Formats: sequence, structure tokens, C-alpha cells
Amino acid sequence: MVSRVIPVDPFDLVIFGATGDLARRKILPGLYRRFLGGQIPDEACLIGAARASLSDDQFRAQIEAAIAEFVDPAKRDPAQIARFLRCVRYVAIDATGEEGWAQLKALVRPDRVQAFYFSVAPTLFGALAERLHKHEIANSEARIVVEKPFGRDLASARALNGTLAAHFDEHQIYRIDHYLGKETVQNLMAVRFANILFEPLWNAQFVDHVQITVAETVGVGGRGAYYDKSGAMRDMVQNHLMQLLCLIAMEPPYHFDPDAVRDEKLKVIRALDPLTSEDIVRGQYVDARGKSYVDDAENPASRTESYIALRCHVANWRWKGTPFYLRTGKKLRARTSEIAVVFKEPPHSIFDDDTGWRENMLVIRLQPNEGMNLKMMIKEPGPGGMRLVQVPLDMSFADALGEEGADMPDAYERLIMDVIRGNQTLFMRGDEVEAAWAWTDPIIAGWEATKARPQRYDAGSSGPEDALMLMHRDARRWREIRE
Ligand code: BG6
Repeated sequence: MVSRVIPVDPFDLVIFGATGDLARRKILPGLYRRFLGGQIPDEACLIGAARASLSDDQFRAQIEAAIAEFVDPAKRDPAQIARFLRCVRYVAIDATGEEGWAQLKALVRPDRVQAFYFSVAPTLFGALAERLHKHEIANSEARIVVEKPFGRDLASARALNGTLAAHFDEHQIYRIDHYLGKETVQNLMAVRFANILFEPLWNAQFVDHVQITVAETVGVGGRGAYYDKSGAMRDMVQNHLMQLLCLIAMEPPYHFDPDAVRDEKLKVIRALDPLTSEDIVRGQYVDARGKSYVDDAENPASRTESYIALRCHVANWRWKGTPFYLRTGKKLRARTSEIAVVFKEPPHSIFDDDTGWRENMLVIRLQPNEGMNLKMMIKEPGPGGMRLVQVPLDMSFADALGEEGADMPDAYERLIMDVIRGNQTLFMRGDEVEAAWAWTDPIIAGWEATKARPQRYDAGSSGPEDALMLMHRDARRWREIRE
């Protein structure tokens, strides 16, 4: 298979918050990897901007350290790193004041593709947008990239959208949900819409239910202050899990085009039925040996959930009667993210009851070992009559696609390149984000009103007991959480 790396046009990318954690862990190492992959032209310019007063060389040294920490040793080529760093500059800037803006203006070229990555607290988005405009740094096609959390409820998301809209058009705003940059997530669209096999079965008549799991082994230590104000609902469900749900449940867009795709996703969110307390289980981890959630959050009275499981319904013709079960949590048994589409029984079985029938299932693994797995029934080989056995039709991307499959760009790399290309398909539109908050707001308000406490679950387990019951009551079972 021939690798198709399509270089992007020369660009100037300004990273606000360039000395922060996200830049260090993801953005800068990701840009280096794309450079190494031949996608970033030498004439591109990466400009770090942050409060710290650093020289270009001091910032380059920080990037080198980030590459040493976060890039695979096999890809750390000193000559290439030196070439990459040649296109790096740094400006000390005051986001809410006037310092540094003239220097930035002198560096950003007006006739280039321009991108401004706001890797800063959302409270600074407005100040940055305003100054880029006021100092006439951004051209009319400049792109701004903003990170989650995009608001903490509908009102704040609307206010944020309003602030950005005062200076940039919607087609210039790239709201990142890094789950949309994961290889398998995009493959989900390819599998659904480039094959005839699944689409005829992709509805309530044939799909019994869908399970979406994003399980993590890490706790919230180190970021407890942020997390305790969010919880799993705001941190994971309102964005990542709902985006996955949209891609599974949406109607085929008329074209693989940003607005066509996002229109269909928006319809799914709008079609979600409101939830009742029966549909939700919240949990907080407790570690017998060490720290519990409340210790990590440094808030002994915390009622914030580090785990959530819920059952929801997409109220439209396609999905009437098919439940979608979503769960995500910290400190669970294994780190695994997957979507399982579980099909119904054939209408009539010609085999005896004891032959070992099990349901067909399409499992889409986001991480680790990205790939897809279709569970099928076949006859167990050998003599002894008709016994059935479930076998996986396994397509691990690393195996199926060889080296290319093993060397897929990380979500951030892909998304940043899409920003430069001006492709918004994998970014959330303002109305999508607002619709997602409109659905989650009443749920969160319900917990706040009743002062509901999450259930405790053991760190390293699969989550609270009641989450098992949530499916049990419907005569269904969660898939095991394992790598
Ligand atoms: C982030 C959340 O958006 O996604 C984190 O804020 C979470 O709490 C992370 O750990 C998970 O991302 P990934 O790509 O590691 O599954």
C-alpha cells in the first residue's frame, strides 16, 4: 500500500499557551511528527506565544525536550529536529494586555494560511480573538482552534460562541474534540457509508442495542481541581461520547462535506429523549490502598462523578426502540475505548436451542489496538453434528494495513493538518455544542437539585454494581472491560 502524505500549503501557526501541558504533550510533538512525515513544508512558521519571557532558542529547547519525552525514539532524528526547529519562533505575549502583539504582527505573514491555536483557558478566548482582530493580525480566512471545555452549560457555551462570532465567522472556528481525530472514529464513517453490507441492517429492526465504552485506568490526580467542577458528564459524555453516538446513529450525509456531516450529527443530538434518573448511574472510585476520588479532588464532600453509565434513546424512525448504552470512568480495570453494535437474533432459528447461538456483533475498537471485529456464527469444525461457534472476523488496522496501519498519526496531528487544509468535517460546529449542552443541562441540574451522591466503586473494577443492573434490567450485559 502506498502512503499518501499530501503536503499542506505553507502556513503560519501561532500556538497561544505554547509552554502549557497540551502543547508540550500533544501539539508540538505532533507537529514534529507531521514534519518528519513530509507534510509540513520548510517555509511554514510555528510561533509559540505565552506569558513567559523566552528567547526563540529557549523555546526551541523546550520543544526538543518535548520531542525527547513524547516522540518514539526511532523517530528522533537530530538532523530532522534541527530542520524542524528552524521554522520555530517565540513571542512573549500578554493575552489580556497589549504587550507582545506588535511583535506577533511582525511575524505572522498576511498572505499565508494562518492558524491561531488557543491552547489556553476558555476565559482568555475572547481577549485573544479581540486582539487578533484589533491588531489586524488575522486575515479574513484565518482559522482559530479552540479546545474543550467549550462552556460548562448551554448559557456559557452560547456566550462563548457569541464572543468568538464577534471576530470570526463560523467557517473560521475549529472546535476540537480529539476523539473525532482518532483513526477508527473516521473509519466508522467509511465502514458505514462505503460498504453496502451494514447500512441495510443499521436500524432498530436489526440492531438490538449499541454499547459505547470509554474506560480509563488513570484517576484525576494532578487535575482534580478542574475535574471536580466537571465530572464525567461534562468532561467526557457531553463531547466525546456524544460525538461517537452521533457517528453511529446519524443518517447518511449527502456528501462527505463538513456541513453535510455536521447537519446529520446535530439531528441525532436533537432527537435524544430526555433522561430520567432510572437511566443513569454515577460513581466515584475508592481505592482501598491509596487515594480515593475525593482525595485526588481534594474535596472530601465532593459529589462529582468519576464514572457514569447511561441509557438513552434516539427518537426517530431509524432508532425507535433501540437503546444506546454509554459508559465512561476513571480508574477502571483497563484502558479501552470501543463501540459495540449488537444485532438481533435471526427471526427463526433452524438449529436446536443447545447449539450455542450467540448474537452477531460489530465491535469498533478505538484504543488500544485500533480495528474492527465482526463476530459471526459458524459451524464448529469437526464431526459430532451441528454445533455453532462464534468467531471473530478480525481486522486490526496494524495487521491489515502493515506498517502504515501501525504508524497512524495521532488525533491531534491529523486535526491540526485539517485546520491548515481548511477542512472542518472533524470539528464541532457551534450549534452542535449548544445542542449537546441543551441535552445534558437538565440532567446535571437534576443531580444538583437532589444533591445526589455518586455510588462508590473499587478502583480497578468495572464500575459500580448498579451500572451492571442498568443493563441487567433490560436483559442485556455490558461487554467486559479489557485491553
Ligand atoms: C480528555 C478528558 O478530553 O480526554 C480527560 O478531559 C480524558 O479526562 C481524555 O482522560 C481521554 O482521552 P484519550 O484520547 O486518552 O482517550
